[in-house]
Parts: sequence; structure tokens; C-alpha cells
Amino acid sequence: MSKCIISPSVLASDLSKLSSECQRMIDNGCDWLHMDVMDGNFVPNITMGAPILTWVHKNVPDIFMDCHMMVADPAKWVPEVAQAGGKSYTFHYEATSDPEGVIAKIKEHKMLVGLAISPQTPSSVITDSLGNSVDMLLVMTVQPGYGGQKFKPECLEKVKELRARFPGKNIQVDGGVGSGNACQCARAGSNVIVAGTAIFGADDPKQTILDIRNSVNG
Ligand code: DX5
Ligand code: ZN
Repeated sequence: MSKCIISPSVLASDLSKLSSECQRMIDNGCDWLHMDVMDGNFVPNITMGAPILTWVHKNVPDIFMDCHMMVADPAKWVPEVAQAGGKSYTFHYEATSDPEGVIAKIKEHKMLVGLAISPQTPSSVITDSLGNSVDMLLVMTVQPGYGGQKFKPECLEKVKELRARFPGKNIQVDGGVGSGNACQCARAGSNVIVAGTAIFGADDPKQTILDIRNSVNG
């Protein structure tokens, strides 16, 4: 099994003090920080963009910014996000007719490549060549657009299927995940856990991160 990576979604943090919220999660033992970029077009919500990522990177230079791009034109933002300090760039299969082109552009800009599928998208769209050309697959376990939604367990079938086909890849789950169901996600084959509300809303986020890590590591 690939290494367990925990990536708190900062959408659930106090965004008015984003840098210190990121630092707080690093101090609490997270591995990455999940930055949800939404454009009000691919999804019906607007969050943050490259200017905000730039400031986070300046204030918290050591953080691995795991950028989840819920945008209608994923190729467009690659240079800005790389320049802002993004380490991985995950785009949606549904947002482009040229995933190979987007992948090539992300690689040119020296970021890790993630490919996401929304709940209605079957895992079969990820062909062997597509899956093998990325660093991470993201299986959404809620409809992208908002934090704090209910986990859709039926999406884990796709995690299972992808894990069987891509044994060495990072497989991320995102949406409604916490210490109660991380174990189910890990059993299906996910090793990269995004959790927003469950971590930022916890009385003891350090313990929650530890609980999630323990349940993934079994
Ligand atoms: C949803 C976002 C998620 C979300 C996760 O569109 O991609 O990253 O913020 O938040 P929780 O864990 O609260 O569902
Ligand atoms: Zn996300």
C-alpha cells in the first residue's frame, strides 16, 4: 500500500486567517494541505485562486499545497498555480476534452498531476494510459462545490476498481471523510485522505489526524 497522506481541506478553516490555520494543521501533524480552487463556473461556488495561494506559500513556505482545481478551464491556471507555489495540481476529467494536454502542461510546470472524477463519472473513463500518466487519482465522495456534505459510500466501488488497476498510485478521496469512515476508504484502496469539516471542526484536530492515520494504516 502507498504511504498514508492526510490533507486537511482548508475550505473548512477560518479563511480570514488562512496562513495561521495552515500552520496550525502542520503543527497538528498533517502531511499536505488541500486547497479547493473553485471558479463559480465548473461548480456553483467561488473560493480562492492563485493570489491567495501565493500568500499562503509566502507565509508558510514548507507546506505542500495540494491544489484541487474545480475550474472550467484547467489548462488556463497551470502557470499561475505553479508560480504561486502549488505542488500538485488536480483537475477534473469532466472539465476538459483534452486531459492529455492538461497533464503535459502541468508536468511542464513541474507540479505533480492529479486527475479527479466526480460522483457521476465512471472509473472506466480513466484509461490505462491516462491513469499511468498521472501521479494521483481523486475519487470525489461528494458532488464538488461545497464542504460539509454527506459522504457517498457508493463511490468507493470506483476506488476499489482503480486500486486494482493502479496498484502503486496515490488514490485520494475527498468529501465527507473523517475518522469514522477513513478506514472504509482505506480498505477500498485509498491512501490520500482529504478531510475538511472533520479536522478543522474537531476539538482536538491533532487526535483526529492521528485517528485517521491509524485507521488508514490499519
Ligand atoms: C468539495 C471539496 C472538498 C471539501 C471537503 O467540493 O473539494 O475538498 O472541502 O470538505 P469536507 O471534508 O468538509 O467534506
Ligand atoms: Zn477538494
